[in-house]
Amino acid sequence: MSRPVVIVPGRQAPRRWLVTGAAGMLGADLVALLRADPAATVTALTRAELDVTDAAAVAAAVDGHDVVVNTAAWTDVDGAETHEAEATAVNGGAVSTLATACAATGARFLTVSTDYVFDGKGEEPYDEYAATDPINAYGRSKLVGEQAVLAVLPETGYIVRTAWLYGAHGANFVRTMLRLAGERETLDVVDDQVGQPTWTGALAGQLIALGQADRAPAGIYHGTASGQTSWFSLARAAFEEAGLDPERVRPTTSDKFVRPAERPKYSVLGHDRWAEAGLPPLGDWREMLASSGVAAPSRAV
Ligand SMILES: NC(=O)c1ccc[n+]([C@@H]2O[C@H](COP(=O)([O-])OP(=O)(O)OC[C@H]3O[C@@H](n4cnc5c(N)ncnc54)[C@H](OP(=O)(O)O)[C@@H]3O)[C@@H](O)[C@H]2O)c1
Repeated sequence: MSRPVVIVPGRQAPRRWLVTGAAGMLGADLVALLRADPAATVTALTRAELDVTDAAAVAAAVDGHDVVVNTAAWTDVDGAETHEAEATAVNGGAVSTLATACAATGARFLTVSTDYVFDGKGEEPYDEYAATDPINAYGRSKLVGEQAVLAVLPETGYIVRTAWLYGAHGANFVRTMLRLAGERETLDVVDDQVGQPTWTGALAGQLIALGQADRAPAGIYHGTASGQTSWFSLARAAFEEAGLDPERVRPTTSDKFVRPAERPKYSVLGHDRWAEAGLPPLGDWREMLASSGVAAPSRAV
């Protein structure tokens, strides 16, 4: 089983949380988890309630909070190729705006970034200090946000890079596979991209733990599951969890699925830095998938 979420009600100083992008896949799980903690007061703002590109609205929203967690983002990776300026306004400019607002009030700031800041040409896990070199517009836009946080909040800014997210809310690979299972006898899934499938519920717990941590040094952390797998193996695992025949999933290669944005081939991140914060990294991806319940038979379409 994945490790339980680290929440210690009533002890930590930070209690007033602001979550942006609260209706997103990660945002929804984060808000639900925070609301389960009686010691936390939570302001959860959806895009309709706070457009993070509106600097005046951001400054007003940040005021009165101890910890601000930004889960809002332009997440249309292919769309970013033809709308890079718009993607960068959200993933770069707005992150800078949020960081500046937090600098003004002293709030701790956590923002979520991506494995796509790396080129994916590596062969061993990228550590938190590895050189970045994004190969698509989305990755470049997220890197702009990272650099802003490091510059504006060197002591109180936290960047949590994640990857291959799935959850109960919103569209994601695991849910898509289970939907397609109801529509097709076999599925061809790429076996030449490797990464760390990560449940939004587990990442939400990790963000809360970091937001509460007494002595966590600022900077970059890698919030992905441990281990590694391919999309093909993840699809087979989701079928297993759903009680479906995994042999219905067949391996193929990325050249059969050419998309507007190039994807990194190797998206495996190292997790050493959590030790500096006194926190365990996220657990193994396969156990996490099982404990998430996202692919449970009741969820299969
Ligand atoms: N999903 C993944 O596999 C993955 C991988 C690596 C990193 N990440 C990062 O993880 C974080 C959470 O991703 P997610 O999968 O939960 O994404 P998501 O489901 O797309 O949620 C993002 C939310 O941000 C909102 N948003 C977009 N523009 C906004 C704006 N200008 N102001 C306020 N809100 C805005 C979206 O609203 P609308 O839906 O109304 O546009 C959406 O509710 C993001 O930082 C993402 O870049 C995700």
